[in-house]
Amino acid sequence: MSLDTLDLKSLVRTIPDYPKPGIMFRDITTLIGHADGFRAAIRRLAAPYEGEKIDAVAGIEARGFIVGGAVADRLGCGFIPIRKKGKLPWRAVGQDYQLEYGTDIIEMHEDAVKPGERVLIVDDLIATGGTAEAAVKLIKLVGGEVAGAAFVIDLPELGGVAKLSAHGVRSHALIA
Ligand code: PRP
Ligand code: ADE
Repeated sequence: MSLDTLDLKSLVRTIPDYPKPGIMFRDITTLIGHADGFRAAIRRLAAPYEGEKIDAVAGIEARGFIVGGAVADRLGCGFIPIRKKGKLPWRAVGQDYQLEYGTDIIEMHEDAVKPGERVLIVDDLIATGGTAEAAVKLIKLVGGEVAGAAFVIDLPELGGVAKLSAHGVRSHALIA
């Protein structure tokens, strides 16, 4: 099976009513556990940015660490962890946001991005876009430039990509 034609959608497991009734949870563990599926996903996430100046990939805890770290390796750049509140050891900037099923705060080290650096945001999934929007705000707060945002899965009915677009951020997703 060629990596270019592999159907990634068929490798994602959907779990109804997790973690709450009414949520159709998109489980990527089945995708990342498939060697060719994982490799194809990383290549497709990185592809639009090959040859562009990307200083770092910012991955969002926790599933964004799995795909973001691999995309950073593929692009030959560094990796910035954006974490849930209280997990980072150094001084951090924080931003609250709403989730499809709750609210939370994410943080990034205040010196993780130098002014003018171009950062690519990577996560497994965009739903309402609240998490990714908070990441955009953190990167801009410290003077960084958001080069774009890349997701394995988009849930388009929840409007996340449009929310990022309102901030001037271009997005792409592998599965919608
Ligand atoms: C999930 C997913 C995204 C976010 C998307 O993370 O990995 O980060 O939700 O939702 P949104 O577009 O509505 O903001 P979650 O907060 O469940 O954390 P986890 O990766 O630690 O499970
Ligand atoms: N994060 C927010 N909504 C989600 C969903 N439906 N599946 C997996 N992760 C999510």
